[in-house]
Amino acid sequence: MTRLTISHIEKLKSRREKFTCLTAYDATFAALLDKAGIEVILVGDSLGMVIQGRDTTVPVTNVDMVYHTRCVARGNKQALLIADLPYMSYATPEQAFTSAAELMQAGAQMVKLEGGEWLLPTITRLTERGVPVCAHLGLTPQSVDAFGGFRVQGRSEAAALQLLADARAVEAAGARMLVLECIPADLAARISDDLTIPTLGIGAGPGTDGQVLVLHDMLGISGLSARFVRNFMTGQESLDGAIKAYVQAVKDEQFPAPEHCFE
Ligand code: KIV
Repeated sequence: MTRLTISHIEKLKSRREKFTCLTAYDATFAALLDKAGIEVILVGDSLGMVIQGRDTTVPVTNVDMVYHTRCVARGNKQALLIADLPYMSYATPEQAFTSAAELMQAGAQMVKLEGGEWLLPTITRLTERGVPVCAHLGLTPQSVDAFGGFRVQGRSEAAALQLLADARAVEAAGARMLVLECIPADLAARISDDLTIPTLGIGAGPGTDGQVLVLHDMLGISGLSARFVRNFMTGQESLDGAIKAYVQAVKDEQFPAPEHCFE
């Protein structure tokens, strides 16, 4: 069985069919997600918090990311596999090449990096060298200390316009997908309609092309009770049931509901 590619996700966007993504950090969960029909698996640097027990993603290294990407790649058969470039592993384009190559050789099909304007040359150069890039805007957790906490972004008119400009710029630079995290739902919908590339939302309302959650949050085992998270274990008897319920809810556009959105 061959893995899905970004072209498949692009087709889903053109058909206006929502796509599903969850994070995974090991082979067993990767296999479970894959069998349940999740189209994109993200080896997120959220592993710093849910696997390593840290307060933020800042301490995560590329050695950590390579190890978990290898584990996930062994369990996954079909889903498109994206891996996060962790904090300061892409501070210069040269550093980004080395870090991205390590993740791709560990089994990733795309790398994700956080930020807007300053990353445009890096996105272009990675793309030119055959590394598909997923950009990440809004609440970018690696900048939590600069934001002064995990706060919703893009709430003022100026901030919303800046986010729209950044989204257009990362697409023009070559990004093939864009994660939008914790921004008002109407802004995320506007960006998703404006861009050709697929958008993937977390805390960004129902208007993005796909939805992603941190696995441990949607299983109700991380202790996080954020507005945008739904515990999919509720009413289910198995992990498999919870993941299938998530896939169905995203496909049927039942999740995220208004109570999971920011205005
Ligand atoms: O690290 C992660 O899990 C992420 C998602 C929250 C999008 O970046």
